[in-house]
Amino acid sequence: MQDMNSLQELFAAASRARENAYAPYSGFKVGAAVRSESGKIYAGCNVENISYPCGTCAEAGAIAAMAAEGDRKIREIAIVAGGSCLITPCGACRQRIKEFGGPDTLIHLAGPQGIEKSVRLADLLPLAFDETELKK
Ligand code: THU
Repeated sequence: MQDMNSLQELFAAASRARENAYAPYSGFKVGAAVRSESGKIYAGCNVENISYPCGTCAEAGAIAAMAAEGDRKIREIAIVAGGSCLITPCGACRQRIKEFGGPDTLIHLAGPQGIEKSVRLADLLPLAFDETELKK
């Protein structure tokens, strides 16, 4: 059983980042927080743009913050959306998580009150494209 305090801490970081989400076009605010293997937490929020495809997801922001500090391994990630909705990462973000995670990396899906469900990356991104494909 995972330490509840550490999960609560991850959720709180994602929620705090969500408050700063810049989502004037969709109105859909998202926060994410990554815990790296070193134990540090990095948070991000979605940042939209008037040129819609330029917008970035909360997960991408959190992963970029981690990489900027030189951390390279994701142990777990929490994603918080609003209302009653639990969201899973988009396809591109699943691949981003895969770059720095592994099949057992935990993805915690949270509503406003806390983490409600945890899934493994391998279950969200089966048959993933990885470096072994490039070597064939
Ligand atoms: N979004 C995220 O930040 N993360 C997700 O996992 C799904 C979607 C953002 C992108 C866009 O700013 C808004 O939510 C609506 O799609």
